Amino acid sequence: MNMLATTIGGRTFNNCMMNAAGVRCQNKRDLDALVQSDAGAYVTKSATPQKRAGNPSPRMHTLPHGSINSMGLPNNGLDYYLNYVIADQQKRPGTTNFLSVAGTSLADNLAMLHQIQASEYTGFVELNLSCPNVPGKPQVGYDFDRVHTVLDQVFEFYTKPLGVKLPPYFDLVHFDQIAAILNQYPLTFVNSINSIGNALVVDPQSEQVVIRPKGGYGGIGGASVKPTALANVRGLALRLKPEIAIVGTGGILNGVDVFEHILCGASMVQIGTQFGYEGIPLFDRLAKELTDIMKQKGYTSIDDFRGKLKTFD
Ligand code: DOR
Repeated sequence: MNMLATTIGGRTFNNCMMNAAGVRCQNKRDLDALVQSDAGAYVTKSATPQKRAGNPSPRMHTLPHGSINSMGLPNNGLDYYLNYVIADQQKRPGTTNFLSVAGTSLADNLAMLHQIQASEYTGFVELNLSCPNVPGKPQVGYDFDRVHTVLDQVFEFYTKPLGVKLPPYFDLVHFDQIAAILNQYPLTFVNSINSIGNALVVDPQSEQVVIRPKGGYGGIGGASVKPTALANVRGLALRLKPEIAIVGTGGILNGVDVFEHILCGASMVQIGTQFGYEGIPLFDRLAKELTDIMKQKGYTSIDDFRGKLKTFD
């Protein structure tokens, strides 16, 4: 068995690393490149029911330790991505990928999930409850009652494998509260974390913000979010029922970062900012780096160390 293989919801992936939604996955060319790559799977750009232009530019900015973005969900609409994943499923039966959806209302999410339920798609859906960048639309993941309502209504009819993409939480009581809600549903996975939303980056030279939307507020990704991401992966891994796998996202630049996410409990990891900077060769590099670490430590599968982080007590 491949050393880097992982299993989620009964589906096996031969590599536990993939892109994070939003980065280099918006059109067919990007997705075809991911299919050809060493990534274990791909996720499509979060879809809304119709094609969307997103926020005005500049809407992304490189930082010394990551990135800030306020893209505002530019995407080609659900039909585009659903057609893509179905065609891919027909070409490569037995492979599983992730279709991300991010309605800006509950009605939009339910309509999209009804369409997916009725389609021949059998892969994973990642329901994005954590986009920080649509003006006037708060992140659902911070409103626990709302998360409850959304999942109640989704699981009234949706029977295919589904996970949720969560925002980062910053207090242990919030880990308790969100896990208590998520544990009530037949979720296949949770993905933690989306970008750290509504941060503000200031350019002291120009005395200006660095991105246009929302007065300069945007989501932070990349190296600086790793400790927050690990805290969320670990916090959820300790609280969720074992049937719900954790997808770890945030701050992955190298094999050590992947190793740490898995130690904290991730079964799969996603890479956003660094994939944006490095492109497809990232996956081959990370696979080599993680394999080297595992060999040095005598591990032959990620299950040998997944979730086995040691603490002092
Ligand atoms: O940081 C993010 N940017 N997270 C999302 O969920 C959506 C994306 C965007 O399009 O703004």
